[in-house]
Amino acid sequence: MLLDTFGRRAVDLRVSLTDRCNLRCGYCMPEEGLPWLPKAELLTDAEVVRLVTLAVGELGVREVRFTGGEPLLRPGLPGILAACAALEPRPDLSLTTNGIGLARTAPALKAAGLDRINVSLDTLDPVTFRDLTRRDRHADVLAGLAAADAAGLRPVKLNTVLLRGRNDHEAADLLSWSIDRGYQLRFIEQMPLDAQHGWDRAQMVGAEEILARLGERFGLTPEPDGQRGAAPAERWLVDGGPATVGVIASVTRPFCRACDRTRLTADGQVRNCLFATGETDLRAALRGGADDRELAELWRKAMWGKSAGAGIDDPSFLQPDRPMSAIGG
Ligand code: 5AD
Ligand code: SF4
Repeated sequence: MLLDTFGRRAVDLRVSLTDRCNLRCGYCMPEEGLPWLPKAELLTDAEVVRLVTLAVGELGVREVRFTGGEPLLRPGLPGILAACAALEPRPDLSLTTNGIGLARTAPALKAAGLDRINVSLDTLDPVTFRDLTRRDRHADVLAGLAAADAAGLRPVKLNTVLLRGRNDHEAADLLSWSIDRGYQLRFIEQMPLDAQHGWDRAQMVGAEEILARLGERFGLTPEPDGQRGAAPAERWLVDGGPATVGVIASVTRPFCRACDRTRLTADGQVRNCLFATGETDLRAALRGGADDRELAELWRKAMWGKSAGAGIDDPSFLQPDRPMSAIGG
């Protein structure tokens, strides 16, 4: 088991498969991209599978989510999924993606064992999309969404980050659009995880404001039996349901007390928190010949040291050295 001193147990593993991306969302990366991790430092497909196997078989992980950067840029993704789907007990397999390329790959990913996807979509307007992501790929994302839905990667979840004066006027439109298509929309408060360190608390569109904007067009009631559990999204029924909308208020209402996550970066470092300032190097141990028992022990130790909370709103908050794209969303 992956336990910590606050009584939490990590059962949800996030694996970043690459730090690269084909978009350049301003809240994530600068226009010119980042110094990417050298290939030799990336875990190979076999190394990823070995560590996931250990996490599922020995450490109690029940859900594996692949992220990036953009995980669809990893050529070995279908093979990694297939190997993970063959594990006992079979973990739940999901993917967080920007959707580009899904139009082509969704059926193969489903066949390999992928259960669900989360797609990032911040706008319904192609021009705003180009403004926010610095790439003209809006149509590719929409096609990817439709293909994922058709392939049965359901429920299709959408993640939206609202930015003041850029796309915040679209909140209600995004929600009606998602409901019409049977997609589950969740708004995420912008976090200080951009490589450029440009985050500004005052500019952030927070949960209160998001709910107020949605409330102008929809009736929102907290989901009954609102068993939030470890899920970071607080959910509301829209106009009495069954449609829902989620808000992930990482900054204004952090959910650290119920956190059940452990993270593995593309270069084989365990992080016990998105905002951790330290990491545990499983790659060096693995390449140095450590056996499963030793790797499991390192991973357990890494999680045992997890702190109570990130506290973005604390004056003492320190942004981690790695940007989101190199940690995994
Ligand atoms: N704050 C909040 N969400 C972010 N994402 C990327 N960077 C940030 C940030 N700084 C989102 C993406 C994607 C998910 C992986 O995280 O939009 O949906
Ligand atoms: Fe790529 Fe996601 Fe970062 Fe946007 S937020 S640049 S899609 S990794």
